Amino acid sequence: MTRIGSVTPTHWYNLAADFPEPLPPALHPGTGQPLKPEDLEPLFPAALIAQEVSTERFIEIPEAVREVYAKWRPSPLIRADRLERALGTAARIFYKYEGVSPAGSHKPNTAIAQAWYNAQEGTRRLTTETGAGQWGASLALACSLFDMTCEVWQVRASYEAKPYRRYQMEVYGSTCHSSPSELTEAGRAILASDPQTTGSLGMAISEAVEVAATTEGVHYALGSVLNHVMLHQTVIGQEAVAQLQAAGVEAPDIVFGCAGGGSNLAGLTFPIIGRNLTEGTASRVVACEPTACPTITQGEYRYDYGDVAGLTPMLKMHTLGADFVPPAIHAGGLRYHGMSPMVSHAVELGLMEAVAVTQEDAFAAGITFARAEGIIPAPESTHAVAAALAHARDAADGEVILIGLSGNGVLDLPAYEAYL
Ligand SMILES: Cc1ncc(COP(=O)(O)O)c(C=O)c1O
Repeated sequence: MTRIGSVTPTHWYNLAADFPEPLPPALHPGTGQPLKPEDLEPLFPAALIAQEVSTERFIEIPEAVREVYAKWRPSPLIRADRLERALGTAARIFYKYEGVSPAGSHKPNTAIAQAWYNAQEGTRRLTTETGAGQWGASLALACSLFDMTCEVWQVRASYEAKPYRRYQMEVYGSTCHSSPSELTEAGRAILASDPQTTGSLGMAISEAVEVAATTEGVHYALGSVLNHVMLHQTVIGQEAVAQLQAAGVEAPDIVFGCAGGGSNLAGLTFPIIGRNLTEGTASRVVACEPTACPTITQGEYRYDYGDVAGLTPMLKMHTLGADFVPPAIHAGGLRYHGMSPMVSHAVELGLMEAVAVTQEDAFAAGITFARAEGIIPAPESTHAVAAALAHARDAADGEVILIGLSGNGVLDLPAYEAYL
């Protein structure tokens, strides 16, 4: 049987199997009753619906998905020795770098799996939303590998500020619209009440779900939040555990990951939390979010919709309210009103902590990191870097800090320019 800590995992790890208390179920948006698998059939393939409610500890990664992963996985775990010297810290800092994927972030880990399961069921077209464009580009990449296309609604603030991601999606053969758009009922209603809106992930999700739910043969894919997305990302943490062990570290003392909808954080840390629960390790895990969209640190833990129009199931999660429109910060992937129910549950059970980081501190940390390590982190990832640097200042001698570096920022350089 697989175990946590393989450098080429054959299975995804499901923390739902080890939660001390069961995860609250998703509710039907119309009836308020627990969701039935058939409620999700208009949107998702059967295999993903099964994963969404599974409590099996390990779920096998299909061979075809592993073959694609092998093009860039295992992603590197890098000792940040130059950063340690620049900070003068007594800690040992490592980072797990997901920016080596063809799309530049962790998002292909689930995009490849989702596209493959859809292709297996004969679906040829997907819809989705995207914030900064990292997810849209990743799903477009995945669709191109399995002879599919996708239609992406990108949050207006990012669509206008970051055209390169749209070009990337188009290179992969997909299309990208600014959201809110005139193409959907949800988009038209939002534009009628606020023509100048900067857009939000909640709005873009409404548009993509509406098209998938009302068009025969079209499915929807979500880049974060849902349980099956958290599951697919656990290749990150399983590799990291094995790579740390190879470097002589049994378990990290503290782990920092940025949190938008929770997927890179869950991917890196759920296998580590699983070890805390079953193997007696004691790693601290910290979710790092922007002060501009402080979902965990300021939001309520309650049932809420995943989108503005109320088309999605209701999820028990930390939320700022489905109609919350965050300021147009540069870390577009962190502008989401809600949080993964699994991450929220982990916080409520005391398995994870959370901090909020200002945009200024995040970019300052990104620049310090880039000058020491060479890699320019994605604006989202800089939130984890900032929290880790703040911790490293007073760290104990030899303490092991692990940072989730979820993506690179080479297509986000205009955002950095303001901070230089
Ligand atoms: C590089 C990067 N990191 C983090 C995120 C936040 O998403 P999640 O919390 O699901 O990892 C995004 C989202 O677009 C992203 O592109």
